[in-house]
Amino acid sequence: MASTDIIIQTENLTKKFGSVTAVNALSLAVRRGEIFGLVGPDGAGKTTTIRMLAAIMNPTAGKATVAGYDTVKQGEAIKHHIGYMAQQFNLYGDLSVLENITFFADIFAVRGKTRRERIDRLLHFARLTEFTDRRAGKLSGGMKKKLALACALIHQPNILYLDEPTTGVDPVSRREFWDILADLHIQGVTILVSTPYMDEAERCSRVGLMYGGSMIECDTPQNLKSQVVGDLLELRPVSPTARGIGLLRRAQAAVESLDGVLEVQTFGDLLHIFVDDAAARQSAIIAALSAENIEAQNVRHTRPQMEEAFISLVRRAEATAAGEKNDTATK
Ligand SMILES: Nc1ncnc2c1ncn2[C@@H]1O[C@H](COP(=O)(O)OP(=O)(O)OP(=O)(O)O)[C@@H](O)[C@H]1O
Ligand SMILES: [Mg+2]
Repeated sequence: MASTDIIIQTENLTKKFGSVTAVNALSLAVRRGEIFGLVGPDGAGKTTTIRMLAAIMNPTAGKATVAGYDTVKQGEAIKHHIGYMAQQFNLYGDLSVLENITFFADIFAVRGKTRRERIDRLLHFARLTEFTDRRAGKLSGGMKKKLALACALIHQPNILYLDEPTTGVDPVSRREFWDILADLHIQGVTILVSTPYMDEAERCSRVGLMYGGSMIECDTPQNLKSQVVGDLLELRPVSPTARGIGLLRRAQAAVESLDGVLEVQTFGDLLHIFVDDAAARQSAIIAALSAENIEAQNVRHTRPQMEEAFISLVRRAEATAAGEKNDTATK
């Protein structure tokens, strides 16, 4: 791969807050035009990573370049190339949609004819043209996010950072937001997006899975899913005597040590049982549940999706971290 294809690069990027290592020796290369997804549990270090890449926060150690500029020495240059929608972004609730976007145009010194044209285009693009006079505080959650996105795009950045841009937004608005991102992707904008939603991770070119400040996996959604070995057997445990989490735990305990069972996850009121071979193991699993007076309903075989892959990879990382702790404790 030619090095010019890499638009964001980090080497051992590290951020410590006192004794907490928020980002731990992160080495990452994002290619021009990619939609790169950052996923990971709460506190994994996603926001801290994005803030360092936005040149808002200096690393404790290591370095990062964005569009060829060093984030510490050339932070100002970077700010012209990136659009940044922070996790806790701020719109002015008392200002109208148009006033908010105009405010950002002022900050980035977008003036005159260009400014009018761009605002029109972005409002249209964000499906907000009919709402230009509405106060931002009165917009729906999804519309607020779209307005924040339009504001982040006013200076036409070719790199866009979005930190959980759709958290708390209804599924229809989330899809609409992602349709807008797909348009930007087609226009060649590089997008770095953190998300807790696995259906969104699935739409990324590549996904970096962060855990405890480190990037534990970085690959295409397809390859991440294929890391989870075996088949997935999904079923709903039903019992005349138990319900809810108690029932799920009992069902889990009944099947997890059976031959061929690799891992068991709960998923809403369903049990996700990873097995070496679903067809060969299904009857033994149903029998084991039945012996506990639990009926298996809606049984189906599927391949693991992103959600299961994510949980499985995080569990693996947790087990490794716990093992390392024990090793140090016994030394
Ligand atoms: N300014 C700060 N001062 C002290 N600790 C901080 C600061 N910012 C982040 N941290 C800590 O660094 C770690 C990583 O936080 P960060 O916000 O980057 O995680 P995140 O992956 O974005 O989490 P979330 O999904 O909850 O947004 C956490 O342990 C957090 O408490
Ligand atoms: Mg965050």
